Amino acid sequence: MSSIKIRKICCIGAGYVGGPTMSVIADKCPDIEVRVVDINKERIAAWNDNDLNNLPIFEPGLDQIISRTRGRNLFFSSDMEKSISYADMIFISVNTPTKTKGLGAGKASDLSWVEASARQVAQYANGHTIVVEKSTLPVRTAQAIKEILKTTIRENQKNETTKTFSVLSNPEFLAEGTAINDLEKPDRVLIGGEDPQAINALVNIYLNWVSSDQIICTNLWSSELSKLAANAFLAQRISSINSISAFCEATGADIKEVAKAIGTDKRIGNQFLSAGPGFGGSCFKKDILNLVYLSGYFGLPEVANYWNQVVLLNTWQQDRIYKIVLEKLFGTVNGKNIAILGFSFKANTNDTRESPAIRISCELLEEGAFLSIYDPKVSIERMKEDFENHSFDNPMIWKMANSIQEALQNADAVLILTAWDEFFGLDWNYLASFMRKPAWIFDTRSVVNREEIKNTGLNLWKLGEGT
Ligand code: UDX
Repeated sequence: MSSIKIRKICCIGAGYVGGPTMSVIADKCPDIEVRVVDINKERIAAWNDNDLNNLPIFEPGLDQIISRTRGRNLFFSSDMEKSISYADMIFISVNTPTKTKGLGAGKASDLSWVEASARQVAQYANGHTIVVEKSTLPVRTAQAIKEILKTTIRENQKNETTKTFSVLSNPEFLAEGTAINDLEKPDRVLIGGEDPQAINALVNIYLNWVSSDQIICTNLWSSELSKLAANAFLAQRISSINSISAFCEATGADIKEVAKAIGTDKRIGNQFLSAGPGFGGSCFKKDILNLVYLSGYFGLPEVANYWNQVVLLNTWQQDRIYKIVLEKLFGTVNGKNIAILGFSFKANTNDTRESPAIRISCELLEEGAFLSIYDPKVSIERMKEDFENHSFDNPMIWKMANSIQEALQNADAVLILTAWDEFFGLDWNYLASFMRKPAWIFDTRSVVNREEIKNTGLNLWKLGEGT
């Protein structure tokens, strides 16, 4: 099949998906020029910063790729018009947050940025352009993008007769913290579309480093739905194991043993079975709520209810944890010092979006606790923003600690919420000396070994471990 040779790529959106994805494409395809654009000038400046520690996102391995490719065939800019007009292929990789108001508020995705991007593409593109949806989008959004591209051209028809577009869906499955590895060695690449030449052009890009049997081509709607469904299935597994963790605590079973026992069944598999304080991150909740909204829209209330339960269980798990802390500390945390270890939604990222730590911390603050929060990567500005989004009846009293030891100073309890490497194998004998007795460790990520706290005088509660 004849195929279009892509020489110039533009990506609209320099965020968690656009930045790393384009860096890897530029790295693997040195003959393609890749331009990443964003209206946020500060973010672009950070991507262009000479000090690679100032990149806007932290991903292991990203800085090395940036140092190889930036200025060679990878460029970050805020010049939309130029970057779009010169590209043969444009990725749309912008935010699609959950709507906060209007129809579908709290569930449906806000597509304003996608729509604005499509309009800009329609305005500035030249000749034939392949438009690739990279953002996670509700099923049938490609149709909306097509409509916008078509009508905008029709409106300006006199001078625009040479513009044509093909729309593809190419959802991203990368997880934060392992983004580079996920991009370089993906389980699969999914491409949805109707135009075989456009599909082929995108397949050829991936063939530079992904084998053909890992590239799945589907129709547009299957591709869009697969992304939502994959995230919903993953989140459902976490809610499932978390529901069983509560059962373990009630019965004396041990969630790690149960996870191992069920995970050895090949049909179930052993991945994604770690019980914890619930899933966070920018995708799971948003995508499930989107699925819930769309199920309702398409007249499938039972399907909507089924998936909504995954989110409800996740919130319940977080509330359950703060209530256990309260109960163990004699029913009150008012005026007590609690150390929080880990604020990001998982280890190896500075991202706190939907982090269970936010909700749990807010509940404890609301109960009058004083929190001392330590996270190896999350900045104090980020924490402030996260707390500012919540209203409190009590005055908020928290501080960021610069070390584990500082966080534990005079603490009545320590609550471990993220499984950062440095939280494993701690010298609890030494750390216990900083705490006020009787003191508790609440371990929601199974990082503390019961042996380690023997003879320390500390009490240990572990999520999913029955007594
Ligand atoms: C997820 C998907 O994995 C990825 O494919 C998609 O593209 C984006 O959403 P991400 O949100 O970066 O990626 O993180 P992930 O590693 O999937 O973890 C999500 C949340 O689930 C975290 O809060 C994590 O702590 C939690 N989790 C994960 C568990 O509680 N237990 C597990 O066994 C796995």
